[in-house]
Amino acid sequence: MFVKNAWYCAGWDYDVSQGKNVLVSRLIAGEHVVLYRKPDGVVVAMEDRCPHRQAPLSLGRKEGDSLRCLYHGMIFAADGQCTEIPGQSVIPPAACVRVFPVVEKDSWIWVWMGDPAKADPSLICFSVGPDNRDWNIKTSHMQVNANYRLEIANLMDLSHLTWVHRTSLGGTMKYTEAGAKHEINARGVDTKFWVRQVPVPFFSQHLFPEGTLFDLHFHVEMTIPCNFILHFRVFLAGTATEGPSDGQLVLDTYSCQAITPRDEDSVDYYYSWGASRETDSPGMSDMLREALDVAFLEDKEILEGQWQRLKQRGPEGNKVNIIHDTGPGKLLHVLDTLLKAEAPPAARQKSAAQ
Ligand code: FES
Ligand SMILES: [Fe+2]
Repeated sequence: MFVKNAWYCAGWDYDVSQGKNVLVSRLIAGEHVVLYRKPDGVVVAMEDRCPHRQAPLSLGRKEGDSLRCLYHGMIFAADGQCTEIPGQSVIPPAACVRVFPVVEKDSWIWVWMGDPAKADPSLICFSVGPDNRDWNIKTSHMQVNANYRLEIANLMDLSHLTWVHRTSLGGTMKYTEAGAKHEINARGVDTKFWVRQVPVPFFSQHLFPEGTLFDLHFHVEMTIPCNFILHFRVFLAGTATEGPSDGQLVLDTYSCQAITPRDEDSVDYYYSWGASRETDSPGMSDMLREALDVAFLEDKEILEGQWQRLKQRGPEGNKVNIIHDTGPGKLLHVLDTLLKAEAPPAARQKSAAQ
């Protein structure tokens, strides 16, 4: 199940180039969507399904602002209306295709999958994109064949850095005892915590003399459906045990990650990592992004295996809860609240009675 009234990331802006016939097919929250750029640069998102015999419009071709289906040649304007049926002069009213509101922001393309009248751009999550001159942000993309609720649970519980990412992002047991503070809001969860007096993440330990310790600060803003914005700062270890570190800021970074459910079984994972211009150094931001390429393959292996077992045995196979389920439970609760609000009245009454 997916929240419909939400902005879903459909990819990086460069995915939908001005190329002569670049048509990008995406599966977003169970809907096939085709994206293309008009000659003026504006992106159009249209249902990727011809209303005649359901051929993918992404197999068609751009013609000016319009899209022609290359099965029987019908043309659809950017507002979804059919403007031509070869060999037929009358255009039936049903010859139209759904179009979705689109916004480009922070080098991401966002598509609203619900009621167009409710498509409020202020609901798009904060992020720092590669177009931001103050940051050197590097980008990537991966598909994971698991349900997006497992991605939420994974990202809301960073204790897994210690175990899943022991030779990439991990490097200390202290992630398991970070004591994160979660603040819930209407569409997400805000989480802040320190991990003090630890080595830097494993992939970067070779940059410092052995035994050098740091204070790491994490600020995560997670929003529905599964957008993870991490402000990650590294300080030389100070002596403060509360409040900010009194050590020197060594590295200031943002990692912005948007996980878009394709269907119940898979997600598209668009992610980035990079340093501030003040703290960047040659090759640093590339190394950060490459570290995520490695780490997210580690997550992918765990989550895909977990999803196969969950599908086989259902939630009854989860026999125990532990402290690290607290964070995931909070964002899943926000998600379920929004899902219930969109459910038909009969389904809402049934769930209230349970
Ligand atoms: S299926 Fe598109 S025109 Fe026939
Ligand atoms: Fe992970």
